[in-house]
Amino acid sequence: MTGPLHDEDLLAELAAAHGTPLYVYDLAAVRRNLEHFHAFDSVRYAVKANSNLGVLRTLREGGARCEVVSAGEIARALAAGFEPGDMVYTADLMDRRARQTVRDLRLHVNAGSATMLEQVASLCGPGDVTLRINPGFGEGHDEKVTTGGAHSKHGIWHEELVAVLARTRELGLRVTGLHVHIGSGLKGRLVERTVEAMDNAVALFQETVTRVSCGGGMSFPYRAADEPFDMERFASLWLAGRDRWSEAVGRRLELEAEPGRLLVADAGVLVTEVCGMKSTGEGGATFVLVDAGFHSMIRPLLYGAFHRIAALGAGDRPTSPKMVAGPLCESADVFTQGKAGAPAPQPLPDMAPGELLVIHDVGAYGAAMASCYNSRPLPAEVVIHPDGEAALARPAIDPNQFLEREQELLR
Ligand code: LLP
Repeated sequence: MTGPLHDEDLLAELAAAHGTPLYVYDLAAVRRNLEHFHAFDSVRYAVKANSNLGVLRTLREGGARCEVVSAGEIARALAAGFEPGDMVYTADLMDRRARQTVRDLRLHVNAGSATMLEQVASLCGPGDVTLRINPGFGEGHDEKVTTGGAHSKHGIWHEELVAVLARTRELGLRVTGLHVHIGSGLKGRLVERTVEAMDNAVALFQETVTRVSCGGGMSFPYRAADEPFDMERFASLWLAGRDRWSEAVGRRLELEAEPGRLLVADAGVLVTEVCGMKSTGEGGATFVLVDAGFHSMIRPLLYGAFHRIAALGAGDRPTSPKMVAGPLCESADVFTQGKAGAPAPQPLPDMAPGELLVIHDVGAYGAAMASCYNSRPLPAEVVIHPDGEAALARPAIDPNQFLEREQELLR
């Protein structure tokens, strides 16, 4: 394995300079990952996966547009140089701040419910809109990230489209986009069904549709044994759909992909410092205790997600199965866990305090989902530019930065 995220000296230097836990992103890898999507007419990056400004700017420079879901993401996308016209706001609902921003910037909305159409019309007046369709089935790496089917809150139920067509006409909305996103971490088993489900939608909205989005969700191979996502098959099925629909409507439709994970997952690592080790006796476990916890990266706790963990600079020291746990005062604060918290130790050497561990493939939904639980800071983020220069991109954010203000408020 090559690239700066596998350069042990560099990671150790960065940890010494900026402290731990520390996210490090390889922007050249982000840029390279756009290549996965070369077959599509356009790529729209799902900002929620990683909203670091360096990452956003790299994807904009690479030609991507973006998908945003909050006023905060809109602000970050603007700061990275995206124009309002480059953004689609995905809305199953819009809170007050979002409504104001969408109205002020006249953002294109991807409406995930009939109610959203009413709001879009009243906020922005007649104009173009996209519909997010729930085709009645879904798939994801975990139940929690499956976004199609009767138990998902996302999208307009497929049987409501006829009624929605009538309502959009009354409201003066032109449905130029049709979108479907059935879940995150797709294995690709439902591609044919999903493309087929769009046949009906395209036929209904044939007068106005210009763009079809197949959503995101393409899985990333976190384990060495995982099959990489079969993009060739996925793209060819969707491209065949696009060509069929283009012929049917008499103009060339644009096929858009809306990935998050696959653009950034392998472009980020989390460096964490070992604070100690402990064992729980015969038949028990050996823990390496580190300064990152589920406040820094929550995927194992939330989804039983696997992330490879490696000891920095350990060479070929002997390893044994070890659990890696964080500093939070909560027993779920363990990086080595499978579904429902099942222990999933990884091979690691004995570690001394001050040594470093690297948690791999955390570029997607890593820092983006971090919190300040236990009044701990959000980790700092470093980017490595394509020319190899590393730079602090965001300092650690301490929830106590407003402590004085809090004291004042209490008086
Ligand atoms: N488009 C929409 C409307 C979405 O809701 C999402 C992700 C994407 C695109 C991008 O999906 P991706 O290509 O990244 O799978 N926190 C979870 C993933 C949540 C995905 C939310 N929506 C995780 O860590 O696995």
